Amino acid sequence: MENSHEKLFAKLYGTKPTILASAPGRINLIGEHTDYNNGYVLPAAIQLRNYFLAAPRKDRQVRVRAENFKESEAFKLDSLKPSERKHWAEYVKGIFWALEQDGHRLGGVDAVIWGDVPLESGLSSSAALEVSIIKGLTSLFGIDLPPQKLAKLAQKAENDFVGMKCGLMDQFIAVFGRQNSALFLDCETLAYEHFPLNLSKNNLGILVYDTKVRRKLAGSEYNARREEASRALEILKAHGAADYKGATLVLLEEIKPAMSDLLYRRAKHVISENARVQLSVKALKTDNFAALGALLFQSHQSLRDDYEVSCPELDVLYETGRHFLGCLGARLVGAGFGGSGIAIVERSRLAAFVEKLKAEAGDRGFPEPECREISVGEGALAVRLPEKRGR
Ligand code: GLA
Repeated sequence: MENSHEKLFAKLYGTKPTILASAPGRINLIGEHTDYNNGYVLPAAIQLRNYFLAAPRKDRQVRVRAENFKESEAFKLDSLKPSERKHWAEYVKGIFWALEQDGHRLGGVDAVIWGDVPLESGLSSSAALEVSIIKGLTSLFGIDLPPQKLAKLAQKAENDFVGMKCGLMDQFIAVFGRQNSALFLDCETLAYEHFPLNLSKNNLGILVYDTKVRRKLAGSEYNARREEASRALEILKAHGAADYKGATLVLLEEIKPAMSDLLYRRAKHVISENARVQLSVKALKTDNFAALGALLFQSHQSLRDDYEVSCPELDVLYETGRHFLGCLGARLVGAGFGGSGIAIVERSRLAAFVEKLKAEAGDRGFPEPECREISVGEGALAVRLPEKRGR
């Protein structure tokens, strides 16, 4: 049976697709704004994914249909240049560009892309898009790269082609995600380990709370935080710390007079968040979700007060969660300034919690949030489609 996207592909290009690749969006349990500071993160892949259906061409032309936008674009591989244009097609071009920059000569393709990861919602739809394409292209052209390299090239596309200086967390989890597991990653060494996330066994669910707030400033504020955190690290280094992972809050307190209050708070977030990730891993090992939840609340406070990446719409989740029986923990997720948060909630209390959140947001005149329970899905996959398909 052909699915509807394969039919669309055949209609658009007059041929059959040969490969279907996909990659997930993500939540991050904890470890926010630590990846680009060479720290620890603990994300998990979600069931929402982006898909890339493609067939090779004989020339060096690429034609892509983005079904979610009902838009098509075409470009030639010989004229790829980063541009200022913020458009989905730049992410597609960026992946071709990053692979060619790494020395792989690609051919053209015809492709259809679509997905159900909500855009600009803090669930990393861009990494899902990038990784689905890199997974598809490497499989289509028989390029054998280690999975770490796939994640890094996808990040390079976003950093150097699209111009968003993100860390590695989103691309890494999109490649390495595993069903019902969270992934602990040391963003400096890229050492990682999967830990089972026994939610249903413990009658718990993870709620994603999408504020529906999309902040245009997110990109520039994000880059500003990167820069501030790196200035704070220079001062820590001048006082003997090797890096953020090696720094302690004790040292930070000692050298407080040597830094501005702003840099002090940025450093305090990064150092304390790294410690919270490590404590969260300990909690996960014993299914101690009460302890994990408490760390989530602390993470939100730190992101709100010290790193200053929250917003009133996200704070509603935290404040409501703190006082709601059955909510073990809640925090903003991803870059912040809007987008989504997550909460760990007793399943029997999920519906009531959603109702309460909507009422609280409504009382404050905020947009109605979209709340959905998520499940933890697989990382990137690519399958070759059989040539002859039955109807
Ligand atoms: C965005 C970036 C990630 C990470 C988070 C904040 O999602 O893409 O690399 O920095 O923000 O933790």
